[in-house]
Order: sequence, then C-alpha cells, then structure tokens
Amino acid sequence: MRKGAAPVSASAPGKIILFGEHAVVYGEPAIGVPLGRRVEVTLAPGRGRIRVAVSGEVSRVRSANAASPRSLVEAALEGRLELLDVRITIGFPPMAGLGSSAALAVALLRARDRLLGVRMPARPSRAMLEEAIAIENVAHGTSSGLDPAICLWDQPIYFQRAPERPARIRPARIGRPVRLIVGSAGTHGGTRGAVGGIAELNREAPRLVGAMTRALGALSRAGAAALEAGDLILAGRAMDLAHGLLSGFGLVSERVEHAVRLAREHGALGAKMSGAGGRGGALIALAGDSRRAARIQRALTAAGVIAWIELFER
Ligand code: PMV
Repeated sequence: MRKGAAPVSASAPGKIILFGEHAVVYGEPAIGVPLGRRVEVTLAPGRGRIRVAVSGEVSRVRSANAASPRSLVEAALEGRLELLDVRITIGFPPMAGLGSSAALAVALLRARDRLLGVRMPARPSRAMLEEAIAIENVAHGTSSGLDPAICLWDQPIYFQRAPERPARIRPARIGRPVRLIVGSAGTHGGTRGAVGGIAELNREAPRLVGAMTRALGALSRAGAAALEAGDLILAGRAMDLAHGLLSGFGLVSERVEHAVRLAREHGALGAKMSGAGGRGGALIALAGDSRRAARIQRALTAAGVIAWIELFER
C-alpha cells in the first residue's frame, strides 16, 4: 500500500449455530444465523503492526488465550503485511463459539479485495468461501466451512457438505420473528480440540458417532421445518434435544449447563449450547416474545454470562 494512501475497512458478522454443530463435520445439515455484532478490519499504510481490540462490554472477557490473529492475517494478505498496519475490532467475545475466526477471515478478505480494487460481487462467491475456509483452517484445523459460509452469506442459512463435495447452501426460511438470547460463558478452549475429540471417538466407535450425528442431523431438519412454519415451540423442543445429544459428547461445561437450565427456568422455549463447546463457549435460548427474552437476558447476566438479544425475521 502506498504511503499516504487512504485506509480501507471491511467487516463481517459473528455467527451462531442453531442446529447441527459437529454433525455438520460428518455431512449432516446445519442451520446458522449471523449476529448483529461484527468484526471490523482496517488496513492502512504501515509496517506490519497488528492491533486487536475487543469492543464494548465484551472487552472485560477478552481472553488471555485468544489465538494470535497474525497467522490468519498473514494467510489472508499473502505477503502484503509488511507494508500495512492492520486494526481489528471484535464486537463480541472471541474464541467462544461465536465465529470470531471466520468473521476475521471474511473481513480480511473483503478489506484485501477493496485494497486491490476488486469489486465486491453482489452475491457471496464460492471462490471467496473456499478462500475463507482455507484461512479459517489456519486457526481451526479442518473445518466444515459452516462458520465462514454464515459470515459471507450474512443471512440465516441451511448448510450441508458431503465429504469432498462443494457445500449446499440455501437461505433458511423463518416464518415468524425469532428472538434468540445469545450467551457467552467464556472461551471454549478451541474448536480443533473439540472436533478432534469426536474424531477420536469416531475411530473407536464409528457406529455410535454415526447414530449421534444422524440424530443431530434429523434435529436440524426438524428445526428448519419448525422455523419455516413459525412453530417456535417445536423449534425450542428440537433445541433442547440437540443440547442433550451434544452434552452426551461431553461438550457442555458446568457453566454452560447452568446457563441453559437458567434460561429454561426463565421461560425459554428451548435452549442449547452453540458452536464447538468444550470448556465454556456459547449458548442460545429461544424466547416466545420480547418480555420473556428480556427476562432470560437479565437472569443470564445476573449469573455472570454476557448475554444479549438477537432478532431474526424472514
Ligand atoms: O468454532 P465454533 O465454536 O464456531 O464451532 C464450529 C462448528 C463445528 O461444527 C464444531 C466445527 C465445524 O467445522 O463445523
């Protein structure tokens, strides 16, 4: 980048997985939605400095073990970093199952393209998805591609990818406004470890893992149908059942379990962990109306969980 050239910025949303985390790695469908909170990247002329800030109330949980984004930045900028300074602002808890790596990968690619004068396509491109997956893999090891797809599509999606095949992605239809309370119970300790744990179990007991992932896939389909029909009660039941299965994989920490129970006690139609899980991570609760959503959010906040409400409409 020329000295004195104007900085360029780009952003991408965080995400939550409603259904299908982990099972999606085994070819089952998943549903993901983008968050209202985003990662922003600014590239300015410089000499390879990277500054990361976590914004708002989230900054107090900025985790000491959040992976250095340098490797992701280097992978996205392909040797251009030396002449640039990079500023990254993360608007939600990082390393917590909310898609910070994928959002960073997508925001970096968008900023790089802007820098190079490449026109942003009107619709998300498959080429950029593959590039974002490759960059996210620097942080996660092999991923299904679900997180970068949600960030790139920037709308609720239904996602499925058979091994070695391109992903099938379509907008997920939502028949009635959906209020989700998103909670963060701290860093989940890494996607690679959580995915690796199931892969290990799969080597020992493939029929068991097959049965679990197929059941999770069935819940993704049932959840998708319920959301499309606007049947939030059924969608909530499907969330509760998926949570039970993911808990059976040992992916739900005490804190997340407690928060999920609290959300149900305060009127959630359903609640579950979201994302890779493990030591901490994200959870989501489905509320039938705004009053109950506020009640659940208050209960989670009082329990020390960072929680906020996201509204999704068709
Ligand atoms: O890293 P997280 O917490 O956003 O979860 C990623 C979703 C997984 O299904 C666990 C992994 C994947 O590659 O799809």
